[in-house]
Amino acid sequence: MMKKIFNIAIILMAATLLFGCGKKEEAPAEEAKEAVKVEVTATGPTIDAIKEKGKIVMGTSADFPPMEWISFQNGKEEFVGVDIALGKAIADSLGVELEVKNMAFEGLIGSLKAGDVDMVIAGMQADADRKEQVDFSEPYFSGDQVIVTLEENKDKYKTVDDLNGKIVGTQLGTIQQKYGLEKFGDNCKGFDLNNVIIEQLKNKSIDAALLSELPAKQFVNIADGLAIVGDIGLPKEDGNAVAVKKGNDDLTQAISEVVKGLKDSNQIDKWIDEYIELSNKEAAK
Ligand code: ARG
Repeated sequence: MMKKIFNIAIILMAATLLFGCGKKEEAPAEEAKEAVKVEVTATGPTIDAIKEKGKIVMGTSADFPPMEWISFQNGKEEFVGVDIALGKAIADSLGVELEVKNMAFEGLIGSLKAGDVDMVIAGMQADADRKEQVDFSEPYFSGDQVIVTLEENKDKYKTVDDLNGKIVGTQLGTIQQKYGLEKFGDNCKGFDLNNVIIEQLKNKSIDAALLSELPAKQFVNIADGLAIVGDIGLPKEDGNAVAVKKGNDDLTQAISEVVKGLKDSNQIDKWIDEYIELSNKEAAK
């Protein structure tokens, strides 16, 4: 119903732009300008538009330490992590504020395409399927994927095939879910949040979790009785990058410059160490 109203509104708006309201025929130049504006937003905000707004909006899924999580350090909720620091560096380079919008990982690409966020930084792989929908900056990090199980089961798995017939939990919309579905079919279960996967593992509703390595290490640190299974030959993740609306070359290039600078000065590695330490400190409390 809402969608219908929305569609009608869009059609009316387009008709107004194209034909004017009947009375306003004397202002064709204004209308032409409006039409151009609509076209520009189809590829997301230009750098000028972001500067005018005074902020850049970053979408993330803050359930993924040390890349992004919600810290309760000083009595208040705060988004922290490597990706948040990267977002701030990008905002600083443009001279604007950073606004963080937290949402389910699965919804991030859709939000970017809809223009609800200007960029996505969420430990997201620049994988081929996603590249059909959005553009990516230079990669800023690469890691492995691992299996997490209960400590007592960790030696049961020597190869990926040993997981056949087991229930494997993954986060919805991730490359882990894609791989899991290909490999284990219905035995691969999808969950919105990583901490839910960890809960499911602890109460034995699932046998294993397929996760990116750095967050997996943090979850194992935080939760008792879990362990990372030794190398069983899972494919490597090949490059986390910042996602930007398709065709927004202007912004993609500016972000890639920031990423290159941070990699050259080893700042990303320093942040990784720093946020692993912070996450461990919070877990110890
Ligand atoms: N690296 C994986 C992917 O690209 C998982 C990312 C999950 N990120 C998160 N913030 N929960 O699909």
